[in-house]
Amino acid sequence: MPEEYRPAVTVVDDAPAASRAAAAIIADVVRDDPQALLGLATGGTMIPVYAELAAIVARGELSLAQVASFNLDEYVGLPPDHPQSYRAFMEAHLAGPAGMDPARIEIPSGMAPDPQAEADRYEALLAARGPVALQLLGLGGNGHIGFNEPGSAIDSRTRVVTLDPRTVADNARFFGQGEEVPHQAISMGVATILSARRILLVATGAGKAGAVRAMLEGPVGPDCPASFLRRHPSVQVILDEAAAAGLTQRE
Ligand code: F6R
Repeated sequence: MPEEYRPAVTVVDDAPAASRAAAAIIADVVRDDPQALLGLATGGTMIPVYAELAAIVARGELSLAQVASFNLDEYVGLPPDHPQSYRAFMEAHLAGPAGMDPARIEIPSGMAPDPQAEADRYEALLAARGPVALQLLGLGGNGHIGFNEPGSAIDSRTRVVTLDPRTVADNARFFGQGEEVPHQAISMGVATILSARRILLVATGAGKAGAVRAMLEGPVGPDCPASFLRRHPSVQVILDEAAAAGLTQRE
């Protein structure tokens, strides 16, 4: 049997408190190593996390100028200047407000003519420059991490993935009315994510409660890709009360 670890779970009152806690952890990693290589995520959960980080920078308590990062994923078919591309997200929420150098933010190209070749290039680049000191993760309502949808294998690497209908529906809120939500992405695989030295997952809101329970208390397996985090020895999970509501084994 492969070893199973217990993630360190912190439950705080609400999403602002979860965002402050996550930003403080990221800030500590960067204070320890101002040139740290980070693994970063996008999505609604990360907007207040990055705003907190920007506030720490604005107070003069931290600089992200020398940090480099690899993002988890990018939509296939969106150019970098499309407002819903993850490249645009990172520039709007982190590079601009928190002073990260956009040139140091690696994200797969959603416009590569051969998306699988781009995924392979990205995996090789990360293998050469990694491992990341800290991988930040959100959690899909269906238990995905990155865009490793249910059914993803523990040994998966960066690849072209087809988004689950629930993910497409969840992400439609970021797109304009009538605008098509991409159905494919290039995503780090589960094994790519597990190669980080340390992992920090943030989940907030009642919509995540089922996935949080499956991640922490369900079987470890592809039905809930986030459950594979229990195969990594250094995982921290920050939840708000709403996301933690389904847990039966709270300490
Ligand atoms: C984003 C990503 C996704 C999101 C997840 C949660 O780069 O890889 O796994 O973290 O879909 O998204 P939000 O925070 O919008 O609920």
